[in-house]
Amino acid sequence: MSSSDLVKRQSESPWVEYGELGTKYNSVNLCKGFPDFPPPDHVVEALITAARNQSSHQYTRQYGHPRLVNILSKMYSQLIGRPVDPLKEILITVGAYEALLSIFLGLINPGDEVIIVEPFYDCYPPMIEMAGGIPVYISLNPPEDSNQRTVSSSEWKLDYNQLASKFNERTKMIVVTTPNNPTGKVYSKEELLAIGKLCRQYGSIAVMDEVYEWVIYDDLSHIRMASLPEMWPYTLTVGSIGKTFSVTGWKIGWVYGPKKLINPLQIIHSNTVHTCATPIQEASAIALEIEFNRIGKPDSYWKQSAIELQAKRDLIIKYLQTSGVNPTIPQGGFFIVADYRNINWPSNDTIYSEKSPGDKFAKWLCIEKKLLTMPVSYFYSSSNRDKGKNSIRFCFFKKDSTIHDAGRILNKLQVKVKSNL
Ligand SMILES: Cc1ncc(COP(=O)(O)O)c(C=O)c1O
Repeated sequence: MSSSDLVKRQSESPWVEYGELGTKYNSVNLCKGFPDFPPPDHVVEALITAARNQSSHQYTRQYGHPRLVNILSKMYSQLIGRPVDPLKEILITVGAYEALLSIFLGLINPGDEVIIVEPFYDCYPPMIEMAGGIPVYISLNPPEDSNQRTVSSSEWKLDYNQLASKFNERTKMIVVTTPNNPTGKVYSKEELLAIGKLCRQYGSIAVMDEVYEWVIYDDLSHIRMASLPEMWPYTLTVGSIGKTFSVTGWKIGWVYGPKKLINPLQIIHSNTVHTCATPIQEASAIALEIEFNRIGKPDSYWKQSAIELQAKRDLIIKYLQTSGVNPTIPQGGFFIVADYRNINWPSNDTIYSEKSPGDKFAKWLCIEKKLLTMPVSYFYSSSNRDKGKNSIRFCFFKKDSTIHDAGRILNKLQVKVKSNL
């Protein structure tokens, strides 16, 4: 018996291989995007309270548990400055993953084009292709000298002329991740306005993956596309409780947007997943209710965790800089990308199988040096993999001791002598 044609067109996600590699070589793991320490107490308490509530243990409303959609409606109505209908304009999903899948399956027709900004979270293209869509890529460009100095993720830029040239009457949507995974770029208002203008001009949807909306550094603000003038009818915004409360195992996500765009997704969801786990939705609602009341206040978990994460970011930056691995300083999110071209390593060895440029270095680092990271080339389309070939991605949402362990490994790497650079 053979697999479906749909599966034949897909390839296995690199996370599987890298996860196994890390376990096999018992490496310090800065690969995947989750903390290696416990979630906040009030979030754990919320789950215990939810578990004690007898009504939490049976099916709940298909499109989202009432208590959860109500608090999300309250929160986003305030954040984007317009009412968001809890029943018609929000769908609760199995993580942000299912939110994205329902967007693509619910709205794309075969032959529709979907612009993806590279580097991107790797599930977008296979999902778009499952729906019959055609991914069209445009890259964020780092400064030319990013291997010679520490740059900011704000310096990774979109070329507006190139962006405009990607839009046409077949452009169904554009997928934008802000804060970005892997670069940590937080899109500026000017950039979002430019994207939004093109969406309005071509009647295309802005699919905003904003799962790291609360993880913003250096007093910067996260700007929600849905809050910008005239953008509500064109915008679908994706969120994740896993990223919001550092509980990635909870796998509850959502998408909010205008009724016309949400309804097709509700249909896809009800015919596939049907309904998400009730106790986790109840717990998510309890935790969000607590956090909603302290947005911007000193005791806000989101505020505190961004401060804590910024310190972790700065810690890993120091290690990278002293090791000669040039980082891009992220403005938000859990990740940092860094250029390893200055490192002396046996790049001619053939012992590490290489699926993508950068793969070889990441495997060498894991197998020989016991540090697991992710090659940035996997965040590019297969035709543009080379653009990520000189960088690897680190997740710094880890205990300080884990970052110190990684730092000691980084500090032992040898920098090439200048003439070899
Ligand atoms: C940009 C981005 N979108 C979506 C997801 C998936 O989120 P979830 O775990 O809620 O499905 C992730 C997970 O790392 C992510 O980084």
